[in-house]
Amino acid sequence: MARSFETLLFHKDKGVAHITLDRPHVLNAYNAQMRDDLWQALEAARDDPEVAAVVLAGAGERAFCAGADLTEFGAAPSQAVARQVRFGRDVWGLWLSLRAPVVAALHGYVLGAGLEMALLCDLRIASDDAEFGLPEAALGMAPAAGGSQTLPRIVGLSPAMDLLLSARRIDAGEALRLGLIHRVVPRERLQAEATALAQRLAATPRPVMAALKEAVYRGADLPVDQALALEERLARLTLAGVGR
Ligand code: COA
Repeated sequence: MARSFETLLFHKDKGVAHITLDRPHVLNAYNAQMRDDLWQALEAARDDPEVAAVVLAGAGERAFCAGADLTEFGAAPSQAVARQVRFGRDVWGLWLSLRAPVVAALHGYVLGAGLEMALLCDLRIASDDAEFGLPEAALGMAPAAGGSQTLPRIVGLSPAMDLLLSARRIDAGEALRLGLIHRVVPRERLQAEATALAQRLAATPRPVMAALKEAVYRGADLPVDQALALEERLARLTLAGVGR
């Protein structure tokens, strides 16, 4: 089943929702329309009982996403207001509320909001041509799509500070060493590998996937005794579901 959006492609196959950023003429730059479309696509994926995993990818040869659409920055009274408007709708909160696992398939430029979107996914597979970076600081801004929080949680404080402050770009090999991505594959295998992984995840009982996401993400922000209590509660819930 396919749905049409102005800035995204969306289709479902074998329990996997495929969301593809589709503005290749501007390297899939993230604009206000894409925010609204993503909102709808993510809600559709979250609320559809047939969707057990999601793949997020970028259309075109050159980029997953080259960041926020720089042409929109002049369209509001000030840069600060523009960013507030762009990200005010809590698309990122919605993203984190997805119980199904989300796999990012990353190629070419993965910059700014593009990298921040990838960081909101649960697993990241990249092709060997991928380049990653948060250029915001060099542009006189701070990341506003969660990057200053997701990046240190994923790679640790020290590498995160390096990438955030220096705004330097890194290649797929360095991203893999840092733990920013999970796997690197040849470009021509990217879509197939991401889809195969999502299908394997979709075949795992859904409550288990949801429990693992909650245990890891919520648990990471709790004191260890509370985190262990959370794990115990979630483990009981999944055990109770076994055999049903
Ligand atoms: N917003 C809007 N348009 C963008 C864009 C962005 N973030 N990134 C790229 N584009 C557009 C370019 O304007 C160009 O459009 P045009 O063909 O109409 O001129 C097209 O995408 C191709 O990009 P181009 O710059 O010609 O490709 P390149 O190979 O020379 O450079 C990048 C690629 C990614 C290095 C360069 O486009 C870039 O630095 N983009 C901005 C990245 C950024 O700072 N993002 C974070 C914003 S917070």
